[in-house]
Amino acid sequence: MSQPIINIKGITRDFPLGNEIVYVLKGIDLQINKGEYVALMGPSGSGKSTLMNILGCLDTPTSGSYILNGKDVSKMEDDELAEIRNKEIGFVFQTFNLMPRTTALDNVALPMIYAGHNKESRDKRATTVLTQVGLADRMDHKPNQLSGGQRQRVAVARALVNHPSIILADEPTGNLDSKTSVEIMNLFDEIHANGNTVILVTHEEDIARHAHRIIRLKDGMIESDNPNR
Ligand SMILES: Nc1ncnc2c1ncn2[C@@H]1O[C@H](COP(=O)(O)OP(=O)(O)O)[C@@H](O)[C@H]1O
Ligand SMILES: [Mg+2]
Repeated sequence: MSQPIINIKGITRDFPLGNEIVYVLKGIDLQINKGEYVALMGPSGSGKSTLMNILGCLDTPTSGSYILNGKDVSKMEDDELAEIRNKEIGFVFQTFNLMPRTTALDNVALPMIYAGHNKESRDKRATTVLTQVGLADRMDHKPNQLSGGQRQRVAVARALVNHPSIILADEPTGNLDSKTSVEIMNLFDEIHANGNTVILVTHEEDIARHAHRIIRLKDGMIESDNPNR
């Protein structure tokens, strides 16, 4: 069998807070294979975002190991981690996190600048992914000229632009109405069907139903991990 794309053993994460230490993740073991579609659920404060930030190389664990696509990222320094993140991870946030005064095209092309591609190949690829997410006619629009659903589509296109190994989405429909949420989830379904590994956080059962595996966190530990249906 091929090795998992994510292999986590005994991950903990704690934060100093004044004279105390807040223990957020208390020993997480997790393997995720290429091509899986996973929903991460759990009550508010259970550690979902903390775990996603570690999975997405935005943060490192206090202890434990994280092998991402064969590389041990748990002890990497910030600059090394930033490079891995740009290459391996596409991250979608609840609040879209787009550059406000920048067109959809340039928002999507941005991660390719860091990856060292020239302008011509950046524009070509950004056009392709924006077309894929249904925004061929909105390339020159700035975020404030787009609806919430369209902004999230731009963010999804940006996440895809560098051909990452994994797409991570932390409550990607959290700021969207229910109709737009369904449209965005259909887009994630399509991205998964194209062969991508997708992990998303949600607290809505309807949203989680799109995934094929549901992991539930409780109080910084995995409470359950089951195939969907
Ligand atoms: N930087 C931090 N410093 C102190 N506590 C934190 C920090 N980040 C998260 N926490 C705490 O960790 C717990 C889990 O947070 P989080 O991972 O955001 O939960 P979730 O995404 O499941 O709602 C919360 O109690 C939160 O207050
Ligand atoms: Mg969260």
